[in-house]
Amino acid sequence: MRKKVIAGNWKMHNNVQETKDLINGIKEGLKEFKPNCEIIVCPTFTNLLTAANELAGTEIKLGAQNMFYEDKGAFTGEISADMLKSVCAEYVILGHSERRTIFGETDEIINKKILKALEKGLKPIFCIGETLEEREKNLTFNVVKNQIVNGLKNVSADNMKNIIIAYEPVWAIGTGKTATKEQAQEVHAFIRELLKEIYNSEVAENVIIQYGGSVKPENAAELLSQPDIDGALVGGACLKADSFLSIIKAC
Ligand code: PGA
Repeated sequence: MRKKVIAGNWKMHNNVQETKDLINGIKEGLKEFKPNCEIIVCPTFTNLLTAANELAGTEIKLGAQNMFYEDKGAFTGEISADMLKSVCAEYVILGHSERRTIFGETDEIINKKILKALEKGLKPIFCIGETLEEREKNLTFNVVKNQIVNGLKNVSADNMKNIIIAYEPVWAIGTGKTATKEQAQEVHAFIRELLKEIYNSEVAENVIIQYGGSVKPENAAELLSQPDIDGALVGGACLKADSFLSIIKAC
């Protein structure tokens, strides 16, 4: 049985005080029930240390939203894996579609980041997904396959237990348009089959594949009930403790 993992991608939201308030809201809510999933919050770089302090002694894990693939040096504005580890981050979101489209990250860059994160003991949440145009041209499986094959180049079967894959159709991110449970399940099953081909059935059976794209309290339960959907990467709905908690409850 794979565990479910609910991660909140805060994107460019919240200052220090808002970070404390949101985490305390989540902690308060979790006193009322025992979650049946792993929980990860991914605040901005400037709030990681605050978040780490607020999360100390809880089961909630900390993740960052990006990192650079070099160890140190003249890379103005960048953050290394060691820096993330030094503020207690365990996870790092890599290859998010906003990084790909707004900041020009290629599969090759994302692959370098994944390899560096793994080398340093950080667990990547590796995002993939097709645009609306690609879906309409029936290219979804090709696009997802290329992103996986190129993004996971030189990642060993053994290291796959340290990676979460997040399938996030770009057309569903921040748009309010969620993939139907059938659309999402179909791609998740395809990804699992592909990982069986690339690696083996053990890797395919054990890898956590999250769905992301307008996940909210109203649609979380039906998405999470699908056999190959192992959790959610939540954007907009993770910014309020109540809605994030409702998604956690849906597990
Ligand atoms: P959304 O974002 O839930 O606001 O669609 C998800 C994501 O980008 O990870």
